[in-house]
Amino acid sequence: MRAERVVLDRWNPDPSVIARAGAILREGRLVAFPTETVYGLGANGLDPGAVKKIFLAKGRPSDNPLILHLCDPRDARSLARVDERAAAMMDAFWPGPLTLVLPALPVVPGEVTAGLETVALRMPDHPVALSLIGAAGCPVAAPSANRSGRPSPTDADAVMADLDGGVDLVIDAGAVDVGVESTVLDLTEKRAVLLRPGGMPVEKIAAFLGETPEAADKNSARRSPGTRYRHYAPVVPVRVWRGGELSPDVDPATSGFIGLDLPCGGFARAIVFDSPGNFARGIFAGFRRMEADGVLCIVVQWPDAEGIGLALRDRIRRASEERET
Ligand code: TXA
Ligand code: MG
Repeated sequence: MRAERVVLDRWNPDPSVIARAGAILREGRLVAFPTETVYGLGANGLDPGAVKKIFLAKGRPSDNPLILHLCDPRDARSLARVDERAAAMMDAFWPGPLTLVLPALPVVPGEVTAGLETVALRMPDHPVALSLIGAAGCPVAAPSANRSGRPSPTDADAVMADLDGGVDLVIDAGAVDVGVESTVLDLTEKRAVLLRPGGMPVEKIAAFLGETPEAADKNSARRSPGTRYRHYAPVVPVRVWRGGELSPDVDPATSGFIGLDLPCGGFARAIVFDSPGNFARGIFAGFRRMEADGVLCIVVQWPDAEGIGLALRDRIRRASEERET
């Protein structure tokens, strides 16, 4: 069965479509919807049967927990233990691309937390997402709306290409703003831990907390389960370019380039962005475009680590890794 696709005006979404999409979620079915970061694949986050459908549709390992999406920070208190620091961060950063990992209350299904004692919460900064969550009347569990391991979808075409059939309704409100997923921050202990760099720059979080969050490295017990898997990867191999001469085993004539500065001429395809923000906005769509164009290799520039660059580095590294780490 093909998924139904509806187009909505982002700033003025048709209330009857939103009401219908909310009802689909309440009935335990799946709706793909835009957020400011990437498109999400949503289900009623308090309905274990509905949440299981997300894992099936994505082919996602069941030990990788999901983010619950809220339309009001006050709803966080019925799902997690919210201390003063967490409340202050919600105040400062929500709605926005920051996911907070907090101690879960028993009401949160194990299917959402993957059996952990914590739950990830976020309030997306997108009018369609917020009105959908409001219409559903429940927290909406939503991973990125791609097949597991694939680049995250930044428009509805990418959702349809990956998930058509596994989802009941796809809401199309055009391309997203940020292009990479939210920053995931663990607040369950004294020192905050950065589990995944993302749309909210870590510098802003550090300025707010008065200290830099600890980096969750490979061996850290407190790391995001999702970071164990290969991710964000197109079918075509991805090679990192850190400046200087191109590696001699890359033939530009059969390769694509994505980045800020072209290393040389002669690429079969090239997408050159004018800023790190646009690089982030366009990288996943760029992967998909190059794949469709049939290049044999995608060369991606390694950006500076400031601001959104840290999230870009993380996605590029994962897309270029061959095996699970
Ligand atoms: O921007 C985003 O965050 C998008 C949009 C749709 O909101 N969602 C997204 O979800 O990227 P997903 O499932 O693709 O990534 C969620 C990440 C995974 O790395 C997962 O392991 C981590 O958050 N996560 C979720 N719950 C967690 C928890 N309780 N403890 C630690 N990490 C958690
Ligand atoms: Mg994802």
